[in-house]
Amino acid sequence: MVPSPLLNAFHLTKVYGSGQARVSAVDDVSMSVSAGELVLIMGPSGSGKTTLLSMLGALLTPTSGEVEIDGVRLGSLTASKLPAVRATKIGFIFQGFNLLEALTVEENILFPARLARGGVAAARGRAGDLIDRLGLAHRRTALPRTLSGGEKQRVAIARALINQPPIILADEPTGNLDSESGQEVMMVLHDIARDEGRAILFVSHDPRIEDVADRVLWLEDGALRDRRQDRHSWVRDPVCGMRVDEVTASVFAEYEGRNLAFCSQRCLERFQADPERYAAKLT
Ligand SMILES: Nc1ncnc2c1ncn2[C@@H]1O[C@H](COP(=O)(O)OP(=O)(O)OP(=O)(O)O)[C@@H](O)[C@H]1O
Ligand SMILES: [Mg+2]
Repeated sequence: MVPSPLLNAFHLTKVYGSGQARVSAVDDVSMSVSAGELVLIMGPSGSGKTTLLSMLGALLTPTSGEVEIDGVRLGSLTASKLPAVRATKIGFIFQGFNLLEALTVEENILFPARLARGGVAAARGRAGDLIDRLGLAHRRTALPRTLSGGEKQRVAIARALINQPPIILADEPTGNLDSESGQEVMMVLHDIARDEGRAILFVSHDPRIEDVADRVLWLEDGALRDRRQDRHSWVRDPVCGMRVDEVTASVFAEYEGRNLAFCSQRCLERFQADPERYAAKLT
């Protein structure tokens, strides 16, 4: 039996601005994601990935078209109903982690439970399980500023899962991580889709994620396109050595007349701190 999709988009369009400043950010996108599926969205910078994800997550109202989440059409709901839909149906994971700095790891994870049935009290047990599962037990009472990037992103994943949403939306969750932490975050998300039957929609520039994704959707100028293999142009990140697709990479630097692509901001910063060391590895 083919599971019915948890997330559907019908002819979604988003236009920002008007007149000279008009930008058609998403243009007639229809797609769906089913339970247990990990779907990757790739595409060049500015192609509309974040805009699409924001509409799918009820954070942004489409100019036209419809989003259906777990059988409910968002357009049929009043604005006052949307926060509850977001809190219970969707877990968000962002590149910048978005943790609350004054709260501990455990408090951050429990934060969205305020909006769910049973509140924080009912979620404490689940928070404990997530903390253990994501390897954060020793950091339970730590504040975000004392965590590594990988730890912060694991807190953000636990927070996204606390209300047991059927859908997880992640916007470049590995973008600020070194390649090892990025790999780890990716595998956690992969396991969550497989073991818990959640639908995961993932935006990333990381070509390695293609290997674990069930499907890859390619967005270009706001529209889904068939991607041909020849769109890839593989180069090596001069710092970590990871394969980077020059077509989709978002972190670049110019060095001695050459354009270098990096897997993440962190690798770029390492390069900038000591370019000569890494330049020696360039061929
Ligand atoms: N609030 C806004 N107002 C006006 N234009 C916007 C707004 N947000 C995004 N855009 C424009 O819409 C287009 C799509 O932007 P979006 O952020 O969705 O791209 P993206 O694929 O996520 O890019 P990146 O890979 O750089 O994150 C871009 O041309 C962008 O400049
Ligand atoms: Mg984006």
